[in-house]
Amino acid sequence: MKHPVPNTEDAVLALGQRLQKTTRPGLTLAGEILTLDLCGGLWLSRLRTLIVSDLHLEKGSAYAARSGQFLPPYDTRETLACLHEVVARLDPACVVALGDSFHDARGPERMEPGDRAMVAALQEGRDWVWIAGNHDHAVSEGVGGRYAETLALGGLTLRHEPSLDAPDGEVAGHLHPCGKVAMRGRAVRRRCFVTDGRRLIMPAFGAYAGGLNVRNAAFDPLFPAGFTAHLLGDGRVFAIGKGMLSKD
Ligand SMILES: [Fe+2]
Repeated sequence: MKHPVPNTEDAVLALGQRLQKTTRPGLTLAGEILTLDLCGGLWLSRLRTLIVSDLHLEKGSAYAARSGQFLPPYDTRETLACLHEVVARLDPACVVALGDSFHDARGPERMEPGDRAMVAALQEGRDWVWIAGNHDHAVSEGVGGRYAETLALGGLTLRHEPSLDAPDGEVAGHLHPCGKVAMRGRAVRRRCFVTDGRRLIMPAFGAYAGGLNVRNAAFDPLFPAGFTAHLLGDGRVFAIGKGMLSKD
């Protein structure tokens, strides 16, 4: 009888998690219980709210428009399909897109009608909030939902760019965190949530969004006492302390 072969990348992540002792199951931030979804979304079941960050819709078409550099223009459809999966599964009352939802302010204009219809279908019957990002601070009208600079939600404050002097409970995006685990000659690099129990930085959700290693100095002032990164594996989320994560 054949035993199932464990996913080798998840095996590397599991080893990284097992070797450090700082992880805690479940997460609470400013009194709110958070569920870190494998898709890269943050689920607040008490408020039936789903948060996703840095969708960067229309990144492919932005490159083509600006520089003639060709990226296959399927990123918007792929990102929206992932979003559709998690929205269908969780049925949120509210979805918050935490900024840089579009790669640039003209992204909504370039959306194909089919993609626009997908966004409208996702918004149907629920509150939908676009938080302003640095790429899409002045998103044009015509994409439904409502706009906000920041949003207070229960004990949490949602904003795109993390703020050094924010009180506990900040949820932000912008940095596109990725964590890297190097074990037994293998290295696995994955998108991740990062938290110290006081603030949380979301992974980028967009198909073409790049990633910044959490060992980059940009994270140091935000997490002066260290952090736990929650890496998105293939089959589950792996909580791994800063000390077990490698630089690029
Ligand atoms: Fe950003």
